[in-house]
Amino acid sequence: MATEPVSYATNIKPLFHERDRDSMTFAFDLWSYDDVSDNADVILRRLSAGTMPCYGAWPPDNVDLFKRWVEGGKQP
Ligand code: HEM
Repeated sequence: MATEPVSYATNIKPLFHERDRDSMTFAFDLWSYDDVSDNADVILRRLSAGTMPCYGAWPPDNVDLFKRWVEGGKQP
């Protein structure tokens, strides 16, 4: 449901594949709640612009989920 709180562990972390994580370790760890929280603004900007991941933009529903996670206070 659209009103259910979005959680990093349940909803967000599974969106980041091993390839994503391995490619981005130079900047942050996409499988780390702290790292993704600290970099949420720049991550959301890239996801919304469709310039990350490098192999193709996320479907809009996934970008929207990430946005709702940020707006919902980045629940663990
Ligand atoms: C959902 C997965 C991914 C997210 C959320 C993501 C996010 C980001 C963000 C936020 C930056 C800017 C970092 C900064 O300015 O500090 C970045 C840069 C970069 N990412 Fe990703 N990334 C993802 C997947 C990938 C993949 C699969 C590759 C493939 C090789 C990749 C390659 C790069 C490279 C080379 C840069 C540096 C050059 C640039 O800023 O465009 N990323 N990414």
